[in-house]
Amino acid sequence: MGKDVIVACDFPSKEATLAFLDKFTGRKPFVKIGMELFYAEGPDIVREIKARGHKVFLDLKLHDIPNTVKSAMAVLSRLDVDICNVHAAGTTAMMQAAIEGLTRPDGTRPLLIAVTQLTSTDQETMERDLLIKEPMEKVVMHYALTAKGAGLDGVVCSPLEAAAVHKTCGNQFLTVTPGIRFADSAVGDQKRVMTPAKAKEAGSDYIVVGRPVTRSDDPEAAYKRCVDEFIG
Ligand code: C5P
Repeated sequence: MGKDVIVACDFPSKEATLAFLDKFTGRKPFVKIGMELFYAEGPDIVREIKARGHKVFLDLKLHDIPNTVKSAMAVLSRLDVDICNVHAAGTTAMMQAAIEGLTRPDGTRPLLIAVTQLTSTDQETMERDLLIKEPMEKVVMHYALTAKGAGLDGVVCSPLEAAAVHKTCGNQFLTVTPGIRFADSAVGDQKRVMTPAKAKEAGSDYIVVGRPVTRSDDPEAAYKRCVDEFIG
């Protein structure tokens, strides 16, 4: 897999999601399915979108005891998703169990990436609620290294952290970066944002774009703008 633009399909139902995807007449976007859509529609929504020819990042952010995560990942591996994820905070043993569960009998498996610290967590919250007193960047790099050590393929991180993650973990270690906005679009609740062109310069491997595409009057044109800026 190379560089790509992943569209976050944060919709409440199958109908809304498929109506949105029907608007794409050319290149088929790589689709991110999150908790809302998956919990509403179940595994069938993944099968349906895969059957339409899209790659799928199933963003369920698993975090539980290793045995439970291993069993859950075995189920997800049978859905033929392309990328799925766990929280690095689940520890090395949980991430290793996730890989074991995800690996199919023929030895293939979807890419597995780790969430480091959620971008909704800032330094103050991390110190107060999680009792983690180290600087955020050090924490993110430590989680990335732990994920790499467990055999994962990359991390979800801010595009502002992509270069540092690559420096710490190597250029083969994937950075999947949300928080993408066009220079002229609304930021919404995202605090630290970058344009697709800047994310490319920063070395992001995949950008995750939601509202700038899903809420656009012309989603296909907005998606194409992302692709042109990010992939060229
Ligand atoms: O609409 P927007 O472009 O902000 O959507 C970004 C997507 O990436 C959402 O689905 C959001 O849940 C997800 N995400 C994020 N920050 C993270 C992890 C995931 O914005 N740290």
